[in-house]
This record gives sequence, C-alpha cells and structure tokens, in this order.
Amino acid sequence: MKIIMLGAPGAGKGTQAIMIAERYGIPHISTGDIFRANIKAETELGKKAKVYMDQGLLVPDELTTDLVVSRIQQSDCEKGFILDGFPRTIPQAECLTRAMAGLNDRIDYALNIDVKDESIVNRMSGRRACLNCGATYHVANMPPKQAGICDHCGGSLVIRDDDRPETVAKRLSVYHAQTQPLIGYYEEMGILMNIDGSKPLNEVFEAVTKLLEA
Ligand code: AP5
Ligand code: MG
Repeated sequence: MKIIMLGAPGAGKGTQAIMIAERYGIPHISTGDIFRANIKAETELGKKAKVYMDQGLLVPDELTTDLVVSRIQQSDCEKGFILDGFPRTIPQAECLTRAMAGLNDRIDYALNIDVKDESIVNRMSGRRACLNCGATYHVANMPPKQAGICDHCGGSLVIRDDDRPETVAKRLSVYHAQTQPLIGYYEEMGILMNIDGSKPLNEVFEAVTKLLEA
C-alpha cells in the first residue's frame, strides 16, 4: 500500500499518517520530520533547510526530492509506505511519478485531508511535537498522558519554531500557491481521495480506513 498525504499545514497529516502506518505496518516518512531531525543534529542539510522553514517557505526541490526517492527504495518500503509532506510542488510530484514508474510501480492513494484555514491556526497554537520520534499532540484535542512528555518514546514535547501565528499564515499562503494544485494532479491520475479533516481525529481515521479498505 503506497500512500501520499495531502492537506494544508496543520490539517492532521502527521496525526493520521502515524495511525495509518501503525495499522498497516508500513513506514511513515515525513519530510518535515527528516528536516527537523537534521536541524537538531546540525547537519549541512539541516542548516540549509532551517533558513527556509523558519520563514514558512518550502525547502528547495533539489534538497528534498533525491532524499525521498532514495528513502522509498530502502527494503522496509517494499510492502508500502506513507509519505507525509511530500510531494508539495508539481515538480516534486512529477519526479515521484517518474521515479515510481522507473521501479515499475505507482502510488495507490493520495489522501487529501481537508480543513478550513480558520481551524488551522487554533490547531497549530495548541500543538506540541516530539522532536525525537515526530509524534504530535494537542493541549486540548489530544493531550499526552503526562504533560510535556511523549507517550510513544518518553521524549520532551516542544512548540515547533514554525508554529508562531505569523509563520503559520505564511505557510498557509505557500500551501495555497504551491501545494494545493497537487489535488488536481492526483485527481487526474484517478487516485485522489478527499477526507473531511474537520471531524474529531478518530472519526477522520475511521473515514480513512473505510476508504483504504473499500
Ligand atoms: P511539515 O512538518 O510537513 O509541516 P506542514 O505541512 O506545515 O504540516 P504540519 O506538520 O504542520 O501539520 P500536519 O498536517 O502534519 O498536522 P498535525 O497532524 O501535526 O513541514 C514543515 C516545513 O518543512 C515546511 O514548511 C517546509 O519548509 C519544509 N518541508 C517539508 N516537506 C517539504 C517538501 N516536500 N518540500 C519542501 N519543503 C518541505 O496536526 C496539527 C495539530 O492539530 C496537532 O496538534 C494535532 O494534535 C491536532 N489535530 C490533528 N487532527 C485533529 C483533529 N481531527 N481534530 C482536532 N485536532 C486535530
Ligand atoms: Mg506534520
């Protein structure tokens, strides 16, 4: 099962992707998590990516695409994978389609988690993230068992640098300009599935699994 997640920043891509990955036993590959891990480890890639991420801008395609194309060829991806936050531009999507075709393969589903912009800012302001394993929480909607500590790995929970309201607004406008066109791209390919992401997260997950298992 090869899946990509589409949706605005804060729509719940990461939250759903982690649950889907667990249910179907496939790896969850988040480009945002990969960049944040590189920033934490102060790698060259991390230093370059941080400049863009802190401004709410996309990291250039050339720093992103090769990384994903090589990741999906690792052995744990043979049964499938879920891509969260990639592709985010038409050139990234075209590159992924070409790379998959070169492997005699294709993406099975593009899940578009649809949430109105008004709800996004509220979700982001309450988000807490684990920089160790990538799990996300929300102080009201999805609190961890113990405040400030990740349920999955015991890591510390932080507010992401790019969750300040002015950066969130910039990320939303970048989303509409550069990423939203992917909805049409995957619709034309016949693999788009729209999910109402405004519902409580368990209801969203039920809707997702219903579609995947139909
Ligand atoms: P990335 O980490 O991918 O951020 P994003 O797309 O902005 O998405 P988020 O992670 O902010 O939101 P999400 O949809 O995962 O929501 P979540 O599940 O956490 O990318 C960060 C940056 O990296 C980019 O800005 C860019 O610079 C760079 N980058 C990454 N990939 C790139 C690429 N391919 N090309 C170029 N640059 C790239 O949920 C949000 C909150 O809401 C949480 O608190 C959660 O608990 C809560 N929540 C979730 N679902 C629900 C629900 N149903 N009801 C109520 N609350 C909910
Ligand atoms: Mg995310």
